[in-house]
Amino acid sequence: MTKRITFLGIETSCDETAAAVIRENDKGTADILSNIVSSQISEHKKFGGVVPELAARAHLENIEFIINSAIQSSKVSINEIDGIAATAGPGLIVCLTIGLNIGKSIATFSNKPFIGVNHLEGHALSPGLEKNIKFPYLLLLISGGHTQFLIVKDVDKYEQLGTTIDDALGEAFDKTAKMLDLGYPGGPSVEKFSYLGDKNFFRLPEPIINKAGCNLSFAGLKTAVLRESKKINDDDKMKYNLAASFQNTINKILYKKTKIAVDIFKEKTQAEEVKLIVAGGVAANKTIRENLSNLGKEMKFETIYPSIEFCGDNAAMIAWAAIQRFKRKLKSDISLSAKSRWPLDENAPYMKGPGLKL
Ligand code: KG4
Ligand code: ZN
Repeated sequence: MTKRITFLGIETSCDETAAAVIRENDKGTADILSNIVSSQISEHKKFGGVVPELAARAHLENIEFIINSAIQSSKVSINEIDGIAATAGPGLIVCLTIGLNIGKSIATFSNKPFIGVNHLEGHALSPGLEKNIKFPYLLLLISGGHTQFLIVKDVDKYEQLGTTIDDALGEAFDKTAKMLDLGYPGGPSVEKFSYLGDKNFFRLPEPIINKAGCNLSFAGLKTAVLRESKKINDDDKMKYNLAASFQNTINKILYKKTKIAVDIFKEKTQAEEVKLIVAGGVAANKTIRENLSNLGKEMKFETIYPSIEFCGDNAAMIAWAAIQRFKRKLKSDISLSAKSRWPLDENAPYMKGPGLKL
Protein backbone atom coordinates (compact mmCIF):
# COMPACT_ATOMS: atom_id res chain seq x y z
CA MET A 1 0.00 0.00 0.00
CA THR A 2 1.34 3.45 -0.89
CA LYS A 3 1.85 5.87 1.95
CA ARG A 4 -1.00 8.30 2.37
CA ILE A 5 0.24 11.84 2.91
CA THR A 6 -0.96 13.69 6.00
CA PHE A 7 -0.64 17.45 6.56
CA LEU A 8 -1.40 19.89 9.34
CA GLY A 9 -2.90 23.09 7.88
CA ILE A 10 -3.12 26.49 9.55
CA GLU A 11 -5.23 29.44 8.34
CA THR A 12 -5.17 32.97 9.78
CA SER A 13 -5.50 35.24 6.73
CA CYS A 14 -8.57 37.15 7.91
CA ASP A 15 -11.06 36.63 10.73
CA GLU A 16 -11.10 32.85 11.18
CA THR A 17 -8.45 31.08 13.24
CA ALA A 18 -8.36 27.56 11.82
CA ALA A 19 -6.33 24.35 11.92
CA ALA A 20 -6.95 20.95 10.35
CA VAL A 21 -5.28 17.59 9.84
CA ILE A 22 -5.98 16.10 6.42
CA ARG A 23 -4.93 12.80 4.88
CA GLU A 24 -5.24 11.82 1.24
CA ASN A 25 -7.26 8.63 0.81
CA ASP A 26 -7.32 5.86 -1.80
CA LYS A 27 -10.11 7.59 -3.74
CA GLY A 28 -7.85 10.57 -4.33
CA THR A 29 -9.96 12.73 -2.01
CA ALA A 30 -9.39 13.66 1.63
CA ASP A 31 -9.99 12.05 4.97
CA ILE A 32 -10.78 15.00 7.21
CA LEU A 33 -9.10 13.85 10.42
CA SER A 34 -9.92 17.16 12.08
CA ASN A 35 -11.12 20.58 10.93
CA ILE A 36 -11.41 23.30 13.54
CA VAL A 37 -12.54 26.83 12.75
CA SER A 38 -12.84 29.51 15.39
CA SER A 39 -14.76 32.46 14.01
CA GLN A 40 -14.27 35.96 15.40
CA ILE A 41 -17.80 37.11 14.55
CA SER A 42 -18.53 38.40 18.06
CA GLU A 43 -15.30 40.47 18.09
CA HIS A 44 -16.08 42.28 14.83
CA LYS A 45 -19.87 42.43 15.02
CA LYS A 46 -20.07 45.79 16.78
CA PHE A 47 -17.84 47.37 14.10
CA GLY A 48 -19.79 45.82 11.22
CA GLY A 49 -16.56 44.56 9.63
CA VAL A 50 -13.14 43.05 10.30
CA VAL A 51 -10.77 45.24 12.36
CA PRO A 52 -7.23 44.00 11.52
CA GLU A 53 -5.63 44.67 14.93
CA LEU A 54 -8.48 42.96 16.77
CA ALA A 55 -8.31 40.04 14.37
CA ALA A 56 -4.57 39.67 14.90
CA ARG A 57 -4.95 39.75 18.69
CA ALA A 58 -7.70 37.10 18.57
CA HIS A 59 -5.52 34.86 16.33
CA LEU A 60 -2.69 35.21 18.80
CA GLU A 61 -4.91 34.31 21.75
CA ASN A 62 -6.50 31.28 20.03
CA ILE A 63 -3.97 29.79 17.67
CA GLU A 64 -2.13 27.50 20.07
CA PHE A 65 -5.35 26.05 21.44
CA ILE A 66 -6.83 25.57 17.94
CA ILE A 67 -3.71 23.78 16.63
CA ASN A 68 -3.52 21.54 19.70
CA SER A 69 -7.22 20.71 19.38
CA ALA A 70 -6.82 19.90 15.68
CA ILE A 71 -3.90 17.55 16.38
CA GLN A 72 -5.57 15.89 19.36
CA SER A 73 -8.94 15.34 17.73
CA SER A 74 -7.28 13.97 14.56
CA LYS A 75 -5.96 11.09 16.69
CA VAL A 76 -2.62 11.15 14.85
CA SER A 77 0.63 11.98 16.55
CA ILE A 78 2.87 14.72 15.22
CA ASN A 79 5.26 11.96 14.07
CA GLU A 80 2.66 10.69 11.61
CA ILE A 81 2.28 14.12 10.01
CA ASP A 82 4.33 14.51 6.81
CA GLY A 83 4.38 18.30 6.66
CA ILE A 84 3.06 21.59 7.96
CA ALA A 85 1.20 24.17 5.87
CA ALA A 86 0.08 27.70 6.61
CA THR A 87 -1.57 30.38 4.54
CA ALA A 88 1.09 32.86 3.41
CA GLY A 89 -1.21 35.27 1.52
CA PRO A 90 -3.12 37.09 0.24
CA GLY A 91 -4.70 38.67 3.32
CA LEU A 92 -4.03 40.93 6.26
CA ILE A 93 -0.26 40.87 6.96
CA VAL A 94 -0.71 41.21 10.74
CA CYS A 95 -2.99 38.15 10.68
CA LEU A 96 -1.11 36.04 8.14
CA THR A 97 2.16 36.45 10.03
CA ILE A 98 0.75 34.72 13.12
CA GLY A 99 -0.25 31.48 11.39
CA LEU A 100 2.78 31.55 9.12
CA ASN A 101 5.29 31.96 11.95
CA ILE A 102 3.78 29.29 14.14
CA GLY A 103 3.60 26.92 11.14
CA LYS A 104 7.26 27.51 10.32
CA SER A 105 8.24 27.00 13.97
CA ILE A 106 6.38 23.67 14.23
CA ALA A 107 7.98 22.53 10.97
CA THR A 108 11.47 23.55 12.10
CA PHE A 109 11.24 21.96 15.55
CA SER A 110 9.66 18.74 14.27
CA ASN A 111 12.05 18.64 11.31
CA LYS A 112 9.27 18.43 8.72
CA PRO A 113 8.74 20.18 5.39
CA PHE A 114 6.89 23.49 5.44
CA ILE A 115 4.57 24.71 2.69
CA GLY A 116 3.30 28.30 2.51
CA VAL A 117 -0.06 28.17 0.75
CA ASN A 118 -1.81 30.78 -1.39
CA HIS A 119 -5.24 31.18 0.23
CA LEU A 120 -6.82 31.47 -3.23
CA GLU A 121 -5.26 28.14 -4.25
CA GLY A 122 -6.83 26.71 -1.08
CA HIS A 123 -10.27 27.83 -2.32
CA ALA A 124 -9.48 26.79 -5.91
CA LEU A 125 -8.63 23.20 -4.96
CA SER A 126 -11.14 22.92 -2.08
CA PRO A 127 -13.71 20.80 -4.00
CA GLY A 128 -10.98 18.14 -4.28
CA LEU A 129 -11.39 17.45 -0.56
CA GLU A 130 -14.67 15.68 -1.36
CA LYS A 131 -14.60 14.86 -5.07
CA ASN A 132 -11.89 13.65 -7.38
CA ILE A 133 -12.04 16.24 -10.17
CA LYS A 134 -9.89 16.09 -13.27
CA PHE A 135 -8.13 19.21 -14.58
CA PRO A 136 -8.82 21.52 -16.34
CA TYR A 137 -11.89 23.12 -14.86
CA LEU A 138 -13.47 26.55 -14.83
CA LEU A 139 -13.41 28.20 -11.42
CA LEU A 140 -15.64 31.00 -10.21
CA LEU A 141 -13.94 32.16 -7.03
CA ILE A 142 -16.25 34.38 -4.99
CA SER A 143 -15.08 35.51 -1.56
CA GLY A 144 -14.79 38.57 0.65
CA GLY A 145 -11.70 39.86 -1.14
CA HIS A 146 -11.80 38.26 -4.60
CA THR A 147 -14.12 37.62 -7.53
CA GLN A 148 -12.52 35.84 -10.45
CA PHE A 149 -13.06 33.43 -13.31
CA LEU A 150 -10.00 31.21 -13.79
CA ILE A 151 -9.00 28.18 -15.78
CA VAL A 152 -7.51 25.74 -13.27
CA LYS A 153 -5.11 23.82 -15.50
CA ASP A 154 -3.38 22.00 -12.67
CA VAL A 155 -2.05 22.71 -9.21
CA ASP A 156 -0.03 25.94 -9.45
CA LYS A 157 -1.24 26.58 -13.04
CA TYR A 158 -3.96 29.17 -13.38
CA GLU A 159 -5.16 31.45 -16.16
CA GLN A 160 -7.39 34.33 -15.17
CA LEU A 161 -10.23 34.97 -17.59
CA GLY A 162 -11.97 37.76 -15.72
CA THR A 163 -12.08 39.56 -12.40
CA THR A 164 -13.88 42.36 -10.63
CA ILE A 165 -12.70 45.82 -11.55
CA ASP A 166 -13.79 47.25 -8.19
CA ASP A 167 -15.48 45.52 -5.22
CA ALA A 168 -15.37 41.80 -4.52
CA LEU A 169 -18.75 40.05 -4.45
CA GLY A 170 -18.55 39.22 -0.71
CA GLU A 171 -17.70 42.86 -0.06
CA ALA A 172 -20.82 43.94 -2.00
CA PHE A 173 -22.94 41.60 0.17
CA ASP A 174 -21.27 42.87 3.36
CA LYS A 175 -21.75 46.54 2.42
CA THR A 176 -25.38 45.95 1.44
CA ALA A 177 -26.03 44.33 4.83
CA LYS A 178 -24.41 47.29 6.56
CA MET A 179 -26.41 49.87 4.57
CA LEU A 180 -29.65 48.03 5.36
CA ASP A 181 -28.61 47.33 8.94
CA LEU A 182 -29.32 43.62 8.49
CA GLY A 183 -26.58 42.36 10.80
CA TYR A 184 -23.09 40.89 10.61
CA PRO A 185 -21.71 38.82 8.90
CA GLY A 186 -23.31 40.46 5.89
CA GLY A 187 -23.54 37.77 3.20
CA PRO A 188 -25.64 35.25 5.15
CA SER A 189 -27.89 38.07 6.49
CA VAL A 190 -28.63 39.47 3.04
CA GLU A 191 -29.41 35.96 1.83
CA LYS A 192 -31.70 35.27 4.79
CA PHE A 193 -33.69 38.50 4.47
CA SER A 194 -33.84 38.34 0.69
CA TYR A 195 -36.22 35.37 1.02
CA LEU A 196 -38.72 37.69 2.74
CA GLY A 197 -38.78 40.35 0.01
CA ASP A 198 -39.96 40.95 -3.56
CA LYS A 199 -36.97 40.45 -5.84
CA ASN A 200 -38.52 42.53 -8.63
CA PHE A 201 -39.41 45.55 -6.48
CA PHE A 202 -36.28 47.60 -7.23
CA ARG A 203 -34.62 47.85 -10.62
CA LEU A 204 -30.90 47.95 -9.89
CA PRO A 205 -27.99 48.40 -12.33
CA GLU A 206 -25.92 45.54 -13.73
CA PRO A 207 -22.60 47.34 -14.31
CA ILE A 208 -20.48 46.49 -17.42
CA ILE A 209 -22.90 43.66 -18.19
CA ASN A 210 -22.57 44.00 -21.97
CA LYS A 211 -18.88 44.77 -22.14
CA ALA A 212 -15.45 43.72 -20.84
CA GLY A 213 -15.92 39.97 -21.43
CA CYS A 214 -16.32 38.12 -18.15
CA ASN A 215 -14.90 40.92 -16.01
CA LEU A 216 -17.31 42.11 -13.35
CA SER A 217 -18.18 45.29 -11.47
CA PHE A 218 -20.28 45.84 -8.36
CA ALA A 219 -19.50 49.44 -7.29
CA GLY A 220 -22.40 50.99 -9.26
CA LEU A 221 -24.79 48.43 -7.82
CA LYS A 222 -23.59 49.23 -4.31
CA THR A 223 -24.15 52.96 -4.91
CA ALA A 224 -27.67 52.27 -6.16
CA VAL A 225 -28.42 50.21 -3.02
CA LEU A 226 -27.12 53.10 -0.90
CA ARG A 227 -29.35 55.58 -2.76
CA GLU A 228 -32.47 53.43 -2.34
CA SER A 229 -31.67 52.56 1.27
CA LYS A 230 -31.76 56.26 2.18
CA LYS A 231 -35.33 56.54 0.91
CA ILE A 232 -36.85 53.67 2.84
CA ASN A 233 -36.65 54.98 6.41
CA ASP A 234 -36.27 51.76 8.36
CA ASP A 235 -39.32 50.16 6.75
CA ASP A 236 -38.57 46.46 7.23
CA LYS A 237 -40.62 45.26 4.28
CA MET A 238 -38.81 47.68 1.97
CA LYS A 239 -35.44 46.56 3.37
CA TYR A 240 -36.31 42.96 2.51
CA ASN A 241 -37.41 44.07 -0.97
CA LEU A 242 -34.07 45.81 -1.44
CA ALA A 243 -32.11 42.79 -0.15
CA ALA A 244 -34.12 40.53 -2.50
CA SER A 245 -33.60 42.87 -5.46
CA PHE A 246 -29.85 43.06 -4.72
CA GLN A 247 -29.62 39.26 -4.56
CA ASN A 248 -31.63 38.94 -7.77
CA THR A 249 -29.39 41.45 -9.58
CA ILE A 250 -26.29 39.54 -8.43
CA ASN A 251 -27.82 36.36 -9.82
CA LYS A 252 -28.51 38.02 -13.16
CA ILE A 253 -24.95 39.37 -13.34
CA LEU A 254 -23.39 36.00 -12.44
CA TYR A 255 -25.64 34.19 -14.92
CA LYS A 256 -24.62 36.40 -17.83
CA LYS A 257 -20.93 36.64 -16.95
CA THR A 258 -20.60 32.91 -16.26
CA LYS A 259 -22.14 32.21 -19.65
CA ILE A 260 -19.39 34.29 -21.26
CA ALA A 261 -16.70 32.66 -19.09
CA VAL A 262 -17.89 29.17 -20.11
CA ASP A 263 -17.63 30.09 -23.79
CA ILE A 264 -14.11 31.48 -23.31
CA PHE A 265 -13.13 28.37 -21.31
CA LYS A 266 -14.41 26.09 -24.10
CA GLU A 267 -12.56 28.02 -26.76
CA LYS A 268 -9.29 28.10 -24.83
CA THR A 269 -9.23 24.52 -23.57
CA GLN A 270 -11.19 22.73 -26.30
CA ALA A 271 -12.44 20.58 -23.40
CA GLU A 272 -15.31 18.30 -24.37
CA GLU A 273 -16.85 18.35 -20.92
CA VAL A 274 -17.01 21.61 -19.02
CA LYS A 275 -16.98 21.59 -15.22
CA LEU A 276 -17.72 24.79 -13.33
CA ILE A 277 -16.50 24.88 -9.75
CA VAL A 278 -17.87 27.66 -7.56
CA ALA A 279 -15.77 28.20 -4.43
CA GLY A 280 -15.12 30.77 -1.67
CA GLY A 281 -17.33 32.15 1.10
CA VAL A 282 -20.07 33.47 -1.21
CA ALA A 283 -20.44 30.01 -2.79
CA ALA A 284 -22.43 29.13 0.34
CA ASN A 285 -25.30 31.24 -1.03
CA LYS A 286 -28.13 28.90 -2.03
CA THR A 287 -29.74 31.04 -4.70
CA ILE A 288 -26.37 31.57 -6.38
CA ARG A 289 -25.93 27.79 -6.44
CA GLU A 290 -29.41 27.22 -7.88
CA ASN A 291 -28.95 29.98 -10.43
CA LEU A 292 -25.62 28.62 -11.71
CA SER A 293 -26.90 25.04 -11.68
CA ASN A 294 -29.75 26.22 -13.93
CA LEU A 295 -27.23 27.77 -16.29
CA GLY A 296 -25.33 24.47 -16.18
CA LYS A 297 -28.46 22.60 -17.28
CA GLU A 298 -29.10 25.10 -20.05
CA MET A 299 -25.50 25.06 -21.37
CA LYS A 300 -24.89 21.40 -20.50
CA PHE A 301 -21.99 21.73 -18.11
CA GLU A 302 -21.47 20.19 -14.69
CA THR A 303 -21.60 22.45 -11.63
CA ILE A 304 -19.68 21.51 -8.49
CA TYR A 305 -19.81 23.27 -5.12
CA PRO A 306 -17.85 22.42 -1.98
CA SER A 307 -19.92 21.56 1.10
CA ILE A 308 -20.83 24.69 3.06
CA GLU A 309 -18.15 23.98 5.72
CA PHE A 310 -15.45 24.20 3.01
CA CYS A 311 -16.79 27.37 1.30
CA GLY A 312 -15.85 29.85 4.02
CA ASP A 313 -12.29 30.09 5.28
CA ASN A 314 -10.96 26.86 6.77
CA ALA A 315 -7.64 25.10 7.21
CA ALA A 316 -8.72 21.82 5.59
CA MET A 317 -8.41 23.47 2.17
CA ILE A 318 -4.96 24.83 3.12
CA ALA A 319 -3.69 21.38 4.19
CA TRP A 320 -5.22 19.88 1.04
CA ALA A 321 -3.56 22.41 -1.29
CA ALA A 322 -0.27 21.71 0.53
CA ILE A 323 -0.64 17.94 -0.01
CA GLN A 324 -1.14 18.56 -3.74
CA ARG A 325 1.93 20.82 -3.86
CA PHE A 326 4.01 18.36 -1.81
CA LYS A 327 3.16 15.53 -4.24
CA ARG A 328 4.40 17.72 -7.10
CA LYS A 329 7.53 18.66 -5.14
CA LEU A 330 6.45 22.32 -4.97
CA LYS A 331 7.91 23.05 -1.57
CA SER A 332 8.42 26.47 0.06
CA ASP A 333 11.47 28.17 1.38
CA ILE A 334 11.28 28.53 5.16
CA SER A 335 12.19 32.23 4.73
CA LEU A 336 8.90 32.84 2.88
CA SER A 337 7.15 35.95 4.21
CA ALA A 338 3.48 36.94 4.25
CA LYS A 339 2.09 38.63 1.13
CA SER A 340 -0.94 40.92 1.12
CA ARG A 341 -1.38 40.52 -2.65
CA TRP A 342 -0.68 37.20 -4.37
CA PRO A 343 -2.58 36.55 -7.61
CA LEU A 344 -3.02 32.97 -8.82
CA ASP A 345 -2.21 34.08 -12.35
CA GLU A 346 0.83 36.34 -12.05
CA ASN A 347 0.45 37.39 -15.71
CA ALA A 348 -3.14 38.62 -15.36
CA PRO A 349 -3.59 42.36 -15.88
CA TYR A 350 -4.25 44.37 -12.72
CA MET A 351 -7.82 45.52 -13.20
CA LYS A 352 -8.35 48.12 -10.51
CA GLY A 353 -7.71 51.82 -10.20
CA PRO A 354 -8.27 55.05 -12.08
CA GLY A 355 -7.92 55.20 -15.81
CA LEU A 356 -9.08 51.64 -16.38
CA LYS A 357 -10.23 51.26 -19.97
CA LEU A 358 -12.74 48.53 -20.77
O1 KG4 B 1 -13.88 32.91 1.61
P1 KG4 B 1 -14.31 33.74 2.76
O2 KG4 B 1 -14.74 33.04 4.02
O3 KG4 B 1 -13.20 34.75 3.17
C1 KG4 B 1 -12.40 35.38 2.22
O4 KG4 B 1 -11.47 34.73 1.70
O5 KG4 B 1 -12.71 36.55 1.93
O6 KG4 B 1 -15.50 34.67 2.25
C2 KG4 B 1 -16.14 35.55 3.12
C3 KG4 B 1 -17.23 36.27 2.36
C4 KG4 B 1 -17.86 37.39 3.19
O7 KG4 B 1 -17.94 38.55 2.40
C5 KG4 B 1 -19.24 36.84 3.52
O8 KG4 B 1 -20.22 37.83 3.72
C6 KG4 B 1 -19.52 36.01 2.27
O9 KG4 B 1 -18.29 35.37 2.02
N1 KG4 B 1 -20.58 35.02 2.49
C7 KG4 B 1 -21.76 35.03 1.82
C8 KG4 B 1 -22.54 33.97 2.35
N2 KG4 B 1 -21.80 33.34 3.32
C9 KG4 B 1 -20.60 34.01 3.39
N3 KG4 B 1 -22.21 35.84 0.84
C10 KG4 B 1 -23.45 35.60 0.37
N4 KG4 B 1 -24.27 34.61 0.83
C11 KG4 B 1 -23.86 33.78 1.80
N5 KG4 B 1 -24.65 32.80 2.26
ZN1 ZN C 1 -11.27 32.87 1.78
